[in-house]
Formats: sequence, structure tokens, C-alpha cells
Amino acid sequence: MPKILKMSGNITFTMLKPDAVEANNIGPILAMINKAGFKIKAMKYLRLSREQAGMFYEVHKERPFYGELTQYMSSGPIVAAILEKNNAVSDFRKLIGATDPSKAEEGTIRKMFAKSIAANAVHGSDSDENASIESSFFFSKLEQF
Ligand code: CMP
Repeated sequence: MPKILKMSGNITFTMLKPDAVEANNIGPILAMINKAGFKIKAMKYLRLSREQAGMFYEVHKERPFYGELTQYMSSGPIVAAILEKNNAVSDFRKLIGATDPSKAEEGTIRKMFAKSIAANAVHGSDSDENASIESSFFFSKLEQF
């Protein structure tokens, strides 16, 4: 048997976005996340300033949708959380579905709850490295369990 050289990480970072909060979908989305086997390692309910949203999404700074994205993400409260599970990043991306909800598979969180590509209900880290960067943007070591 060949050795697995690169272990996938066991944490990912998520935000339940302003549309999900506004529509009272925090509870149903968290229930789906728990049911899929993710443990909540850290959690906060807060509203980002436009500047903070800009810092979080700095990797997208040159994209045409950056202005819309940061405006939207600062438009209301969000839930930020660190989730733990084996293979967390890729399993969570499967659970949430495609960025554009019209392309998301049936049964995924975005298919069920997202309104548009910007108001797409949830964020999920796209790599182990970004999961770690994004988690530490919101949470200190003392806030992780
Ligand atoms: P998220 O997973 O939070 O990561 C980056 C976000 O940018 C993405 O979800 C979308 O909400 C948003 N996004 C990506 N493409 C577009 C687009 N074409 N127009 C508006 N927002 C977009």
C-alpha cells in the first residue's frame, strides 16, 4: 500500500452570511452541519464593518465583484465558526454545494438556502491553508475548543 504523503486537515472555517441570518436559517443550517458530522470548535455572532469584510476577502481584491461582496458581507450580522471533522475542507464544500446556487446539487445547503451568488448563505474555506488563516482572523487560541 502506498503511503499517503499529504494528510488533509481536520478543520474548516465557515460564515453563515447575512441572507441566511435574516431568513432565520441559522438553526436549520447548523443542524445540517452537525448532522453531517462536523463538530463546532469555535463560534461567534457578529457584524463585520466594510473594512473588516474587505480584509477577510482580500484575496478577491482585484475581482469585479469585490465591492459588492464586501458591501453585502457587512450589511448585517453573520455567524462565524470553526468546524472540525476528518477531511473537513472538502467534505464541507460538498455539503454546501457550488458557489452559484443555481449550479448547486440538490440537498446541499446552498441549493436549499442561498438566494444568489453573492447572497449564497454560507462561506466555506477552499484549502487547509485558508481554513487556518480564516480561523485565526476571527478566533484566538483561547476561543477554540
Ligand atoms: P464565498 O465562498 O464566501 O467566497 C467568495 C465569495 O464571493 C463567494 O462565496 C460569493 O459569495 C462571492 N462571489 C463569487 N463570485 C461572485 C460573482 N460573480 N458576483 C458576486 N459575488 C461573487
